[in-house]
Amino acid sequence: MTSIREAYDTMGWGTAPESAATAQAWLDKHGKRFGHYVGGEWVSRDGGEGFATINPATSVELARVAQASPEEVDAAVKAARAAQPAWQALGGHGRARWLYAIAREIQRNSRLFSVIETLDNGKPIRESRDIDIPLVARHFYHHAGWAQLMETELAGYGPVGVVGQIIPWNFPLLMLAWKIAPALAMGNTVVLKPAEYTSLTALLFADICHGLGLPPGVVNIITGDGKTGAALVGHPDVDKIAFTGSTEVGRIIRIATAGSGKKLSLELGGKSPFIVFEDADLDSVVEGVVDAIWFNQGQVCCAGSRILAQESIAPRLIEKLRARMETLRVGSPLDKSVDIGAIVAPVQLETIQGLVQKGIDEGATCWQPSWSLPKDGLFYPPTLFTDVTPAATIAQVEIFGPVVVLMTFRTPAESVEIANNTRYGLAASVWSENLNTALDIAPQLKAGTVWVNCTNMFDAASGFGGYRESGYGREGGREGLWEYVKHLGRDERVARSEVEQSAKGGVLLAPRSSQLPGLPPIDRTPKLYIGGRQVRPDGGYALPVLDAAGNQIASVGRGNRKDIRNAVEAAHQALEKWAGSTAHTRAQVLYYFAENLAAREQEFSERLGRLTGRAAAEKSREVAISIERAFTYAAWADKYDGRVHATPFRNVTLAMNEPIGVLGLVAPEQAPLAGFLSLVLPAVAMGNTVVAVPSERWPLLATDLYQVFDTSDLPGGVINIVTGTRKELAPVLAAHDDVDGIWFYGPREEAAEIEKLSAGNMKRTAVSWKDVDWADPHEGQGETFLREATQVKNIWVPYGA
Ligand code: NAI
Ligand code: MG
Repeated sequence: MTSIREAYDTMGWGTAPESAATAQAWLDKHGKRFGHYVGGEWVSRDGGEGFATINPATSVELARVAQASPEEVDAAVKAARAAQPAWQALGGHGRARWLYAIAREIQRNSRLFSVIETLDNGKPIRESRDIDIPLVARHFYHHAGWAQLMETELAGYGPVGVVGQIIPWNFPLLMLAWKIAPALAMGNTVVLKPAEYTSLTALLFADICHGLGLPPGVVNIITGDGKTGAALVGHPDVDKIAFTGSTEVGRIIRIATAGSGKKLSLELGGKSPFIVFEDADLDSVVEGVVDAIWFNQGQVCCAGSRILAQESIAPRLIEKLRARMETLRVGSPLDKSVDIGAIVAPVQLETIQGLVQKGIDEGATCWQPSWSLPKDGLFYPPTLFTDVTPAATIAQVEIFGPVVVLMTFRTPAESVEIANNTRYGLAASVWSENLNTALDIAPQLKAGTVWVNCTNMFDAASGFGGYRESGYGREGGREGLWEYVKHLGRDERVARSEVEQSAKGGVLLAPRSSQLPGLPPIDRTPKLYIGGRQVRPDGGYALPVLDAAGNQIASVGRGNRKDIRNAVEAAHQALEKWAGSTAHTRAQVLYYFAENLAAREQEFSERLGRLTGRAAAEKSREVAISIERAFTYAAWADKYDGRVHATPFRNVTLAMNEPIGVLGLVAPEQAPLAGFLSLVLPAVAMGNTVVAVPSERWPLLATDLYQVFDTSDLPGGVINIVTGTRKELAPVLAAHDDVDGIWFYGPREEAAEIEKLSAGNMKRTAVSWKDVDWADPHEGQGETFLREATQVKNIWVPYGA
């Protein structure tokens, strides 16, 4: 019998394998044989030999994929060309709808995507599931927003046209998303070639685009090796090439496209420094190294593959690193508790082995954990080299495996010198608990991304790309968009706007619009909406609501002073969490709201018609504008960035937009839906919580929204709605000390009163007695509202020496 002590000492990790059944079913559905996805169809499924794509953890063949010939490349480019004008003419909102639909579909299929990615590439399921695929969805959401905002934010710019995109195998679907999302958002169509080792998730992506009914030719996926890539690069009717891969191939492509007029962006290799100062928190540093070089088996272009440790702490760091390396687990990538999976292909494994041998031959000390590797499959252990000279091969060449070199430095100046002693410049990370040190070093590093006390952080809102031989162009954020647009000439601008106008009519239909039946029953009495629940008005009174013909069709609660106070309290309670949520989360809620509103477009439009007596076109336009407005502010949520001011005295100043707090919103009488939402949406997008008083005459459009909010993951208390008479309610809001700002749309005399009452706690006011055209994209939405919803905080930080 074993004692508890013995059991404890010998305790190992069990396995927790992820099932591959669904993935297998998907492969079987395609007969384990794939062609290209061109012009909305699968072609050449059986044509030619093709090649096998294998599972590097088992060396078992997963499927056969086709090798696109120059003729097939040509067909794909032609399909993209044919689809491009209509895709552009769809306009920003139309494309935003599609990108949003793609993002949702990726989320719905996220487990399938993760498993296929892990099977084909060998990366641990923990990474594909928790990092790759969520980031893929995030990129499509974020760029749905840029599509929505393109016409105002990139006015005067149009798409480049047809884009050829070539991606590597280390983050197959993520690199696809980095390439396709911005290209489509800006109105381009694409021909994308995945890497020959990892074609499957790109083919699955084609499958879901097909299922959604994406217009044929907008996305074309062709598979093949470098020859196919070269044919795409050389095709005369491609307007831009976007490439991620080795510097060697990047150089070939630069030369091949020279003088062709093709736009070009290159994301190439790296040998990124990971600089550790003696005052760094070494335990955090160790976890940082794990993320820097053992993430994705070290097959990461921005991997922190050169640790530069300050001499005084180097021995302690090495000791801690070795201890940590002993605990890393290499094994089946489908095992949820595995840290390091398989190397993508035999040739890559050989390269790693060769370079490690070279390091040993050149005199460096090689250290690997004591445990042994799984017998089958392409595995390589985490490896740490010490006693490395800056000129050694392993200190200069991108190994692209789980191998890190450690060098030492004495002074900050020396750390910068060694860090920059490379032909690359993709990324760097700096570790120090002293802000002055970190921000003195950061500006001196020649790299496109510098992480302070963190590493390998990625997000769609931030640009990513290199300096020097790491390439040029950025992916992500506003700066990434420039790769996919060109300045329009004058004639082109005029022609475009005509095409766009004439195309507008049809675009508001969601890719998948489901209409719910009918109006709610006539004699309903909607209550107030406070803290995410419907509550009876305190006073117990109701106000009649009349239809256009003067008949009473419903009544609504008549809120009073007490109801406003309750609503303000609910808004306060919700504020901290909502303001502290990420902009992405807020965007998600607004998109979801738009989706749910679109599902009830018909119902809202009928309601509007019945109440206001407006003609069909006008009322459905108001609903369409409301849906589009939700898209606009969902888009802005993670894009209304602050700035960085170039202040002197070795500083930079971060100008951060922050929410105001609890806002009281008194909505205009006209445009009972679009006017109401035009105030509520920007306010909540920026992280405020609101107490809103809807149109007095037509409050049902606002009360009908309760259910839409409830089904949109909107936290209770973020939007509170109190119906009643404006004259009773607005002054209570204006005088309330826990309301931080008030927006008022109504008669001038009342507006004056509101401004006076606001003086109590000096709340911010935005009042208007003018007749606003809520349908107008310049008057009814945009930066004016975002500015009113935020206040700027300037944070001065040391930067540079
Ligand atoms: P690679 O640069 O050859 O492959 C990247 C992509 O380019 C693949 O889709 C490939 O089919 C395509 N390609 C190859 N030759 C081409 C050509 N002449 N014209 C157009 N497209 C072409 O990278 P490979 O051979 O898979 O890996 C070799 C080394 O490259 C790695 O060990 C690593 O050091 C580096 N690499 C860097 C990556 C990064 O993200 N920076 C990604 C992949 C590899
Ligand atoms: Mg494979």
